[in-house]
Amino acid sequence: MSSASSPRLLRHLGRPRAIHTERPLPSAAYLAPSRGADPSVSATPRDLQPSQRRALDAALRVDQAGEVAANYIYQGQLAIMRRDRATASLIQDMWDQEKKHLAVMNKLQLQHHVRPTVLWEVAKVAGFGLGAVTALMGKEAAMACTEAVETVIGEHYDDQLKEMDELSTSHPSIPLLKDVIREFRDDELEHLDTAVEHDSQRAPAHALLSSVIGAGCKVAIELCKRV
Ligand SMILES: [Fe+2]
Ligand SMILES: [Fe+2]
Repeated sequence: MSSASSPRLLRHLGRPRAIHTERPLPSAAYLAPSRGADPSVSATPRDLQPSQRRALDAALRVDQAGEVAANYIYQGQLAIMRRDRATASLIQDMWDQEKKHLAVMNKLQLQHHVRPTVLWEVAKVAGFGLGAVTALMGKEAAMACTEAVETVIGEHYDDQLKEMDELSTSHPSIPLLKDVIREFRDDELEHLDTAVEHDSQRAPAHALLSSVIGAGCKVAIELCKRV
């Protein structure tokens, strides 16, 4: 069974889309210059236990690396699919969201004094290569790549939200961080929906492609947590 058919994601796929309201998104706090001096966007908690500090560092390091890779996956797909205007427009829309995710993760990494992964350059090359190779296999394979990656990343963000419930601090940066991760998880799951709606599951060897890409993403997550 491919990971895309896990019960959690099937529930997601069956649920109505979120209704977008006029309320600003949590990530806007990092993109609005007026919030620059607010401790929720400029300071890090000093009262975390050492194990919790290590967990927060690992979480932000892997999230930043994941957003780097996601940007390069979509860049690689677009480099190949530029002439297919409908697909290129879909990919561009998802890439634009990944650009925002990365901009916010870069700010979070600095705010919380987290060392970026040493695999930064690897994430770029691997991401671009994965995007370009799957796009060369065709639109459906490019969408299958998106489906597999966003399945793992959506679940990863979801797991992180539960881990962050354990952080014993009342620092205002943590509730905002959780809101941002929840927003990004929902964006990633929308990318997953987009991929499925655009025939990811009609890709040649879909199950094999999903499991290979999904397994690769999980290995990359574990590596980037550590280094
Ligand atoms: Fe993202
Ligand atoms: Fe995404």
